[in-house]
Amino acid sequence: MDHARQIQNIALIGFMGTGKSSVGQLLAATMHFSFLDTDHAIETRAGKTITEIFAQDGEPAFREWERTVVQELAQRKKTIISTGGGLAANADNLASLKTHSLVVCLWSAPEKIWERVRHQTHRPLLQCADPLEKIRALLATRAPFYRQADVLVNTDLRSVREVVQQVIHQFQLVQGGG
Ligand code: S3P
Repeated sequence: MDHARQIQNIALIGFMGTGKSSVGQLLAATMHFSFLDTDHAIETRAGKTITEIFAQDGEPAFREWERTVVQELAQRKKTIISTGGGLAANADNLASLKTHSLVVCLWSAPEKIWERVRHQTHRPLLQCADPLEKIRALLATRAPFYRQADVLVNTDLRSVREVVQQVIHQFQLVQGGG
C-alpha cells in the first residue's frame, strides 16, 4: 500500500443496493467511528432531496455536488464514509478518497441488486423501462473503477455482520502496517 496515504477512515464504494448504508452504520457503531453518507451530506447542503436535484438540476449538477463533498472529506478522521453508487466512478473522486481512507467496494450481482432496490422509489437512475438492464449496463461501466478499491467484498452470500467483520479485519491489517 502507498506509504503517502494517511488511512484514518473507511470509505464504502459500490453500486446502489450492495449494502453500503447498513454495513456502514454497523461498522461505525462497532468501531466507535462517525458515520457520514455522501448523499445525505449533499441533500443537507443543497437543501433538497437527491430526486429533486436530478429532476430540477440534472445529473451533471448532482455529480458536481459529489465532487464538492468529496473534497471536504479530506478533513475527516475516524469516519465511515458511505458513498453514492456513482461517486467513485470518477478517477479524481476515487484518488481523493484513497488519500485518507481504506477504500472498500461492496459488490453484488445485478439480479441481487435489482431484488434489493425494486420496491424503492428514491433512485432516479432506475426510473426507466428496463431497470435490470440499466443496472447491468451501469455496473459494466463502473466495474473498472470499483475494482480499484483496496478491498472488494461480495455481499451476496454474507450477512451484514460478516461483511463488517471482514472490513474491520482489513482495516486492522492496514493500521498494523501489515
Ligand atoms: C447513484 C446512487 C445513489 C445516489 C444517486 C445516484 C448512482 O446512491 O447517489 O441516486 O449513480 O448509482 P446509493 O448508491 O446510496 O443508492
